[in-house]
Amino acid sequence: MSDERIWSGASPEEVARDIETLVAFADEGLSIEELDTMLSDRLMPHLIRYDRPSFHSLFNMVPEDGALHGARLALEWNQGVTNWQVSPGGAVLEELCCRALCRLFGLEESAEGTVMYSGTYANQQALYMALHRKAEKEGFSLADEGVNGFADPGRLAVVTSVDGHFSLRHAVRVLGLGEKAMVKAGVDGNRRMDTAHLRKMLADLSGTRDVFCVVATAGTTSTGSIDPIDEIADICADHDTWLHVDGAYGLAYQLIPEWKHLFAGIERADSLSWDPHKQFGVPIPSSIIFTRRSEDLRRMAIFSSYWNLPDTVEPNPGIKSIPSTRPLTALPLVTSIRHLGIRGVIDRLRSPLEVVREIHAYLDEQPDMECLHEPDTGILCFRIVPEGLPGERLNPLQYHVYDTILKEGRRSISITKLDNTSVLRFVVLSPTVTVEAIRETIAEVRYIAESFG
Ligand SMILES: Cc1ncc(COP(=O)(O)O)c(C=O)c1O
Repeated sequence: MSDERIWSGASPEEVARDIETLVAFADEGLSIEELDTMLSDRLMPHLIRYDRPSFHSLFNMVPEDGALHGARLALEWNQGVTNWQVSPGGAVLEELCCRALCRLFGLEESAEGTVMYSGTYANQQALYMALHRKAEKEGFSLADEGVNGFADPGRLAVVTSVDGHFSLRHAVRVLGLGEKAMVKAGVDGNRRMDTAHLRKMLADLSGTRDVFCVVATAGTTSTGSIDPIDEIADICADHDTWLHVDGAYGLAYQLIPEWKHLFAGIERADSLSWDPHKQFGVPIPSSIIFTRRSEDLRRMAIFSSYWNLPDTVEPNPGIKSIPSTRPLTALPLVTSIRHLGIRGVIDRLRSPLEVVREIHAYLDEQPDMECLHEPDTGILCFRIVPEGLPGERLNPLQYHVYDTILKEGRRSISITKLDNTSVLRFVVLSPTVTVEAIRETIAEVRYIAESFG
């Protein structure tokens, strides 16, 4: 069993004691060598080694070699990619990269994308664009009048499943709708959105609420489940409602031929979000929002007299989202895909999914383990259920296991709740993670559980 630490396991107080000296800002400067020594002594031990097979719990990974190369260049040149004027090459590269990705994902000819800071902001922008379209149908501009333009803004609602990401809650808050605008549909036995429930809910709500967007998740954060997009698209079409697919985590897996069927219908989504900074191994932050019709991204445009000028013909990524200063995020993505080749990209994506399937098959046969779902992607939720332990002790046991593993610092596991059940979770993004490494973590889970009082 690997005894190597992937981080110190220190308490927040211990970490702060070590790091304090870094922020003792002084009149005298330090040489780069002195800085390096200080950082490797004080900070590095408390960072997590995402490159180790024993790290298999979260959505992080180290950059892939091609991505690292592009990222170094992007950093050295520090290009701002707002518009043609500030970085002609950067602006065109981003535009072309997003169009090439639309084709790679099989989106419609009219589809377009833009780079975002993170999936959270991509989801927020999707809801804004959906609301904008709703306002247009009612004959006014959301940009000008805001939600007050609606006869009764209190009726506006967004539907997602109970496993939809919490960034959607942020989105309805910042849109000024408040969380009462979020309505949750149930999930089926594999934690995919229950479409029968969705259909019934929309019918029931039709007299009292105005549902302007349904958010399907392609790879939920808890279990990696992929909602049935095609069926949800049918329902949205029946109700003339915007469909956003939150593929922040899962969309990449649509590229693997054996997984593609799970994403049937994505080209019907009005908008899609995707985080290449998850399993693509490009530096954080790297997210993209795609829209089926390019004019929907134009809803974001704000022109100024000195910068994003109206009627310019040159590429202008800065008018497709809120940030003015934007980094050359497309470069590491492009260099990574070119370095690996599409075949290499697909092989890297497939390997963790196969590991998770194998672990699922193994856990399913263990009498002291319970799997909570069949993995659609690279996430698996399970819990240890030792014989004879009273039911009410099971949730505390999972927390005890999680806490102990975290503090030991040698491996990683995460914890989440599915309804009221606390579960342990593997999230496998990196192709360096092996079945053996996860089996070692499972052995550790058992060992820790034995001493649980
Ligand atoms: C399904 C889903 N949506 C949205 C997000 C938010 O993305 P980000 O962390 O890039 O803001 C996540 C993050 O894990 C996610 O899993």
